[in-house]
Amino acid sequence: MDLNKALYVLSVFSDTINGKDTFHQRRVAFIAYKIAENLNFERYGLSLVLQSGLIHDIGLLSEASKLETYRQIIEEDFKQLNKHAVIGSKLARFFNLHLDVSNAIGLHHTPQDKNTSALGSLLFLADNIEAVYRSISNPFAFDEIYNFIAQKEHLFNKEMFKVFRELAQTESFWYALNKQNIDRELVKIVDEHKAESDDEFLKRLAYFVAYASDHITPFFENYSVFIKNIAAAIGYKMSLNKEDLELSALFSHSGYIFIPTNLLNSSDRLNESDFNIIKAHPYYTKLLLDALGVGDNIKYPAIYHHEKKSKDGYPFKVTVVDEYTEVLRISTFLAALLQDRPYRVSYEYEEAKNILNSEEFDKKILDIALELELENVVKTQDEYYEGIGRLFL
Ligand SMILES: [Fe+2]
Ligand SMILES: [Fe+2]
Ligand SMILES: [Fe+2]
Repeated sequence: MDLNKALYVLSVFSDTINGKDTFHQRRVAFIAYKIAENLNFERYGLSLVLQSGLIHDIGLLSEASKLETYRQIIEEDFKQLNKHAVIGSKLARFFNLHLDVSNAIGLHHTPQDKNTSALGSLLFLADNIEAVYRSISNPFAFDEIYNFIAQKEHLFNKEMFKVFRELAQTESFWYALNKQNIDRELVKIVDEHKAESDDEFLKRLAYFVAYASDHITPFFENYSVFIKNIAAAIGYKMSLNKEDLELSALFSHSGYIFIPTNLLNSSDRLNESDFNIIKAHPYYTKLLLDALGVGDNIKYPAIYHHEKKSKDGYPFKVTVVDEYTEVLRISTFLAALLQDRPYRVSYEYEEAKNILNSEEFDKKILDIALELELENVVKTQDEYYEGIGRLFL
């Protein structure tokens, strides 16, 4: 897996708030990159600029603080504002990124006079440019946008601002920031900066994505870990590949991040079109895993967890499922039954077993599952997952 490509995908994932894309981090990455390029940064330095820009606000991806912090940015409450920068910096370390990237993220809201990181100063400038760009109603009023930013000139690094002033006179710079163009611009840059990643990175990425999608509503707390624990226990009995199953489980509900949270929190019976929106979550998971280039053995069990042989499932209407997918189907189903949902309370384990029995599952695999004491297995603590939780404290 290419590291910069993965960070780009993570950027899209974490630019999404309540199902809506803000494009913020990708624009910041582009702006910072362009300034760095004009300052003649070396190739490796440019790669670090790209990485830090792409995920600089990743620390916003926790509970309700995501929206809260965006509000604080406008109010300029520095202490509150800086919280997500500190979390983001720790997350960069969790992903084993370069120390310069972690430092830059930690300082991306710190003005030039107190900023001890050159990359951090660059992010600070790019972040301010994007905030103004996004707040002005006409994205083609280039002079107006520039003049607004220039009011804060004293807060920025002089050399960097000078480069920005020149860039701002180029129409194509502004065109690139447009919603229709920014992804194409960035994908080109990302492709020019290939970087290696390892299996440990993939694992940490899966855990982070699981943690983030489990925290968009209180009902999903620990959901991915419950699925993972159940799948691992059944898979062990069947001598399946534990790592693959665990990664499938952790990724399975990442698509929830692209669903508006009011639908996921609704206690009313949803109408058909609203339910169709929720049913898209395995589809979004597919897009995410395709973009990351995750292998089929991990992808298919993750995205087919709502499919049924009778074709009553969704959203791919796949009828042939393998053992791994069947394990994921049982695990996601059981984990959900054991949790509260907005429209019902959780089931006792015995009740949940009865419901499982009445569903369309492979009899042999279901019997293996029901023989295990999954009630206890579900709650097994997970050090990675809890580790991420501590970063957000
Ligand atoms: Fe920020
Ligand atoms: Fe930002
Ligand atoms: Fe699901």
